[in-house]
Amino acid sequence: MARLKVGVLISGRGSNLQALIDAAADPAYPAEIAVVISNRRDAAGLARAAAAGIPHIVAPETDRAAFAAAADRALRDAGVGLVALAGFMRLLDEGFVAAWTDRLVNIHPSLLPAFPGLHAQRQALAAGVKFSGCTVHFVRAAVDTGPIIAQAVVAVADGDDEARLADRILAAEHRLYPLAVRLFAEGRLRIVGNQVAVAGGAAPALAALNPSETLT
Ligand code: GRF
Repeated sequence: MARLKVGVLISGRGSNLQALIDAAADPAYPAEIAVVISNRRDAAGLARAAAAGIPHIVAPETDRAAFAAAADRALRDAGVGLVALAGFMRLLDEGFVAAWTDRLVNIHPSLLPAFPGLHAQRQALAAGVKFSGCTVHFVRAAVDTGPIIAQAVVAVADGDDEARLADRILAAEHRLYPLAVRLFAEGRLRIVGNQVAVAGGAAPALAALNPSETLT
């Protein structure tokens, strides 16, 4: 069966892009990365695309509409059925979001709707929460909003700093994004209002306490 073609938009490091590339290396994975688009020429993720033999382009940053037009053309030329934002740090043109609605997803390093925007891990530490995590969601016009597809929970440890918490959340991101893209590719996501129903999906029966109740 033909695999879903995914276009990935990046601005930097591209470790989530790498997680998707690695997942797609398995022929049984139902999606493949067809094109990578960066708004920055110096994005390290471009080298990851090159190393994997994936077409990649830098779209002009002159203005938001010009970027959107160039990205849209490249995505359509590549036959993309899903656009995944992976550390893409520019606000998207509203027309682009509307054109790709329900076929445009993002990953964010918090349990949305908590801590949208920049420095989500720093916001979590400042708020003193005991758990944070990451979220994959369909993109809507407002930043870091839209129906939630999947989340991973990461406990905040005493003495965590932003870098340590971000590292543990990132490790969860690298598991969560390939899962969410797989569920989309398998046609198992149904958007009902602001919620996403996952066919065959089951929530784990867990209640994690932080601090753990086994503390002595
Ligand atoms: C990730 O934490 C992602 O959740 C956020 O930006 C970071 C991108 O990292 N949107 P990378 O470029 O995928 O390594």
